[in-house]
Amino acid sequence: MRPDRVTCHPVAQAHLIIMACMSLPCLRPIPRRHWLAACAGAALLPAAALAHPRADITLRFSHVVAEETPKGLAANRFKVLVEQRSGGRIGVQVYPNASLYGDHDEMQALQLGAVDMVAPSLSKFSRIGLPEFELFDLPFLFDNLEAVRRITLGPLGQKLLAGLQPQGLVGLGFFDNGFKQMSANRPLLEPKDYIGLRMRVQASQVIAAQMRALGARPVTLAFSETRRALASGVVDGTENPVSNFWTQAMHQVQSDLSLTDHGYLGYAVVTNQRFWQSLKPTDRELINQALQEALAFANQIADTQNDQALLALRHAGTTRIHTPSATQRARLRQAVQQVQQQLVARIGPSWISALQKVMQ
Ligand code: SIN
Repeated sequence: MRPDRVTCHPVAQAHLIIMACMSLPCLRPIPRRHWLAACAGAALLPAAALAHPRADITLRFSHVVAEETPKGLAANRFKVLVEQRSGGRIGVQVYPNASLYGDHDEMQALQLGAVDMVAPSLSKFSRIGLPEFELFDLPFLFDNLEAVRRITLGPLGQKLLAGLQPQGLVGLGFFDNGFKQMSANRPLLEPKDYIGLRMRVQASQVIAAQMRALGARPVTLAFSETRRALASGVVDGTENPVSNFWTQAMHQVQSDLSLTDHGYLGYAVVTNQRFWQSLKPTDRELINQALQEALAFANQIADTQNDQALLALRHAGTTRIHTPSATQRARLRQAVQQVQQQLVARIGPSWISALQKVMQ
């Protein structure tokens, strides 16, 4: 499997081709077969993606996870709030599970206006030239979610979101999934357990360095490809909060989950500047208010979702669940300590020193 394979729905892919062509200042000649494929694809887009039954405006929100996750539930809550408060005049169409666009193309789709809102994990913003978002991936950086808030609700968070503007994007806010756990077909409680394992990672240099520091080999794969790669043995293990692990049925293909809480997984909600500016100020306010409430809701339920997923996992009995001792966790922390120093140049020295001040 090629790590950087485009994984979006073929119809959405065709739609992207059209959007990309239309966004060019002067249309280059396009091979006839590409136009035909693109037009056929657009015609096949699900009716729901093209128009909401009663809405004057339909906002398309694409994401890559299941509906019963903090992100999935937040997106659905957002839809309900917007549609209720606008009396159905503004519709929200949510595309979960990478059903329209996946990790490799959701940002591009947003920039081209093929969707209006996405909520990628913070690890995925380096794809659009913002490696400073990878600071959230630094292992053992946050002891709890209050520590995360010191960044996301403070000036550093605002500065990160402002960095999206030159990309034609608007960052509307952050929210949590929670802390990541390690899985494989063996317990991963201390550094020696990781040696030689191929571990699926998101497209983050910080997470890749973390896996290397533990003696594993990082393999970058889209989220939607992960379960299959685990099942076929392309990779041996991965990391994610339990809600993602459970809702992707990774418990059917991983015999051991180790509750390491070694890193944070969170998201930023992003929209397209053109779309955002095209809205009437009152609609923009309505949508933003609904979104902020949906994000607060996600932050409230994220822990519970992960706890419930862990309970369900215990009940399923397919996967052994391990908790590292304090000593084992200290060994893991020690092994990955070098990562921050190694990645200063990538994240940016000024971001690291601002981070250190906030975390003091
Ligand atoms: C997500 O929660 O959006 C996906 C995380 C991952 O790619 O591991």
